[in-house]
Amino acid sequence: MTENPQPAFWVRDVPVYGSVILAPMDGISDMPFRRLCREYGSAMSYTEFTNAAGILYGADRIMRMLDYAPEEKPQMTFQIFDNDEDRIVAAAEKIEALGPDIIDLNMGCSVSGVSGRGAGAGLLLDPPKIGRIFNRMSKAVKVPVTGKIRLGWERANKNHKLVAKTIEDNGGSLIAVHGRTKCMAYSGQADWDAIAEVKATVKIPIIGNGDVKCVEDIARIKAHTGCDAVMIGRAAIGNPWIFAGKDRHEVSLVEVIQLMRRHLKMMIEYYGSYGLVLFRKHAVRYITGVHGATDIRYAIATCGSMQEFEDAVGRVLHNEPVPMTL
Ligand SMILES: Cc1cc2nc3c(=O)[nH]c(=O)nc-3n(C[C@H](O)[C@H](O)[C@H](O)COP(=O)(O)O)c2cc1C
Repeated sequence: MTENPQPAFWVRDVPVYGSVILAPMDGISDMPFRRLCREYGSAMSYTEFTNAAGILYGADRIMRMLDYAPEEKPQMTFQIFDNDEDRIVAAAEKIEALGPDIIDLNMGCSVSGVSGRGAGAGLLLDPPKIGRIFNRMSKAVKVPVTGKIRLGWERANKNHKLVAKTIEDNGGSLIAVHGRTKCMAYSGQADWDAIAEVKATVKIPIIGNGDVKCVEDIARIKAHTGCDAVMIGRAAIGNPWIFAGKDRHEVSLVEVIQLMRRHLKMMIEYYGSYGLVLFRKHAVRYITGVHGATDIRYAIATCGSMQEFEDAVGRVLHNEPVPMTL
């Protein structure tokens, strides 16, 4: 699990043996991808966000998102979202029985269908409600409850310090901060100064997040913000080596192909043949930057069988040696 027996930090009584963490990403951070990233060094596991209403209904698709592997413990974090206090608390109670180590509330999703109904980043408009939810959730379940936030709804109404204090005062045990507002979605630059403000406001651990694109950025965001850990989202897709302190240009094409094969195998084992379809979005990213591979990228992104995948891979290998850039 770790080379270092000393935890880097604690989420209440949950030890975390490292400080670089795969971000929760809908459609990406499923069990196969989380397992790979853990193997390369990601110190925690966050599920994709799961809808509290769907959990209470027992929807198969949602419950499946809460599958995890034994090696993901004891830092297995289930993330939920909703706008309704009662449903959030009831869903947390229900999923606690599945054995997570931590339950996290999403307060960062900017997608209008979510934030527009007051869930995800929509909750940031109502800090007292966040306080009530954390107060109730932290009493309703035994595992630590945590939150993932943005800086506020919009630039003129940033409330990250107030929200962070509210979470802490109501029993929250850790906050992951994406340094953007809801209105920014993914545009502009993440504001690392604001993450430093959150770190200076509360005593519970803070995970800094936003625009960590390479290994050097990990040290930069830590130095800039004083955060306890760093969360990496987009830069980890097609690039789990970032958790091992290796940038993409340091990874050989053969290593890339080997990992793609393994990842695809894991996805087919987990999802059946549909795993191949779901793998395409990873495949496109694995192959990003492979010199001259535009045609191959298309073939991989559209392949319909393991054999077609192997054929496409063979074409990539045939072009060796190829320089890789990110
Ligand atoms: C495809 C995609 C899906 C995401 N899904 C989630 C999610 O389910 N829960 C969540 O808290 N954040 C989600 N996020 C936000 C990321 O966790 C992260 O905060 C954001 O991408 C900024 O980090 P980055 O610059 O390292 O990508 C998602 C981001 C992306 C790109």
